[in-house]
Amino acid sequence: MKTPIVIAVTGAAGQISYSLLFRIVSGELFGLEQPVILRLLEVTPALEKLHGVVMELNDCAYPLLQKVIQTDDPKIAFKDADYVFLVGAKPRKTGMKRKDLLESNAVIFAEQGKALNEVASRHVKVLVTGNPANTNTLITQSNAPDLSPRCFAGMTMLDHNRAISQLAEKCGVRSKDIKNMIIWGNHSETQYPDLHHATVKGQEAFSLVDDRWVVEDFIPTVQHRGGAIIEARGLSSAASAANAAIDQMRAWALGTEDNDWVSMAVFSDGSYGIEKGLFYSFPVRVSADGEGTIVNDLKIEEFSLERMQETEQELKEERLAVQHLL
Ligand code: NAD
Ligand code: LMR
Repeated sequence: MKTPIVIAVTGAAGQISYSLLFRIVSGELFGLEQPVILRLLEVTPALEKLHGVVMELNDCAYPLLQKVIQTDDPKIAFKDADYVFLVGAKPRKTGMKRKDLLESNAVIFAEQGKALNEVASRHVKVLVTGNPANTNTLITQSNAPDLSPRCFAGMTMLDHNRAISQLAEKCGVRSKDIKNMIIWGNHSETQYPDLHHATVKGQEAFSLVDDRWVVEDFIPTVQHRGGAIIEARGLSSAASAANAAIDQMRAWALGTEDNDWVSMAVFSDGSYGIEKGLFYSFPVRVSADGEGTIVNDLKIEEFSLERMQETEQELKEERLAVQHLL
C-alpha cells in the first residue's frame, strides 16, 4: 500500500459532501491503491450531524480509509493537507444570484485562506466549490500569500460537464466522444460555454449543430442550469457537484489526456487579455505530475471575445465588493 494522502473537506456535513466523501474514500479520486486520511471541517453546531456522517463512512468499511478527523477548527482540518475541497458555504435559494452569497460566504474563505497559509502542505491543491466560487477562490488565495497562486482553483467543471452533456444529447453521441469543451469566466450566468474548439468524434462541433441552437439553446441552458435545478429540486445541485469536484481534482492531480483539457477557474496570467490575478475559467491542460497550464494559443472569434469580456467584467465587480478581504 502507498503512503496515505491527506484530504481535507469543509462543509463535511452538507449535501455535496454527503456524496463527495463516499466517492473519495471508495477510490474514485486516486484509485484503489491509494489510502486516504480525511480531515473534515464543520461549524460547531453541525459537528453532531458530521458525527453521523462519519458513522456511515465507517459502516462502509472502505479498505482505503485510514483515519477520519472531525473538527470545527480550520487549522486542525488543513494540517499538512495535500488536497483540500472548500465546499462549506451557504447555497443560494430560488430567485438569488450566486453573487448574492458573497456577503455571507466571503468571510469564510478569508479565514480559511489564512489557516491554509499556516498549516497546509506547500504543494496543496485547493479546489473551491462554495459560491460564488471564482471570487471565493480569489479571497482564499489572497489570504494565503505564502502559497503559490497555482495551489488554488475554483470549480467550473460542473459547467464543463453540463456543456458536454448538452452537446452529446444534441448529436446523439456519448459524452466520451466530446473533447475540448470550454467554459470561460465566472461560475455564474455570465459564463461563456464555447463550442468553437469542441469536437464530436473528432469532427468540429460547429459543423454538426446550427448557430441558432448554440445561441438560443445551448449557451443559455448551460448558463442557467444551476438555477433550473434549484427550481426543480428545491435544493441546489449536490451529486453532480460532487461528481464535478472529483473530476476536476482528479484531472488537476493526475493530468489530462488525449490532447484534451478541462475548464478550471485559475489565476489569470493575462492570457486572452483577461486581467492578471482574477480567477477566471480557462481551458487548462495538466501534466501527469499535476502541473496545470492555461491553453493560451486558441484563435478567438469576435462572438466569443465579447462574451469572455462580459464575464471578466462581472468578476471585477465581485472583486470590488470584497476588496476589504483581499
Ligand atoms: P449545504 O448547506 O448542504 O452544506 C454546506 C455545509 O457547509 C453545511 O453543513 C454548513 O454547516 C457548512 N459550513 C458553513 N460554514 C462553514 C465553515 N465556515 N466551515 C466549515 N463548514 C461550514 O450546501 P451544499 O449544497 O453542500 O453547497 C455548498 C456550497 O457549494 C454552496 O455555496 C453552493 O452554492 C456551492 N455549489 C457550488 C457548485 C459549483 O459548481 N461551484 C455546485 C454546487 C454547489
Ligand atoms: C450549480 O451550478 O448548480 C451551483 O453553483 C449551485 C447554484 O447555486 O446554482
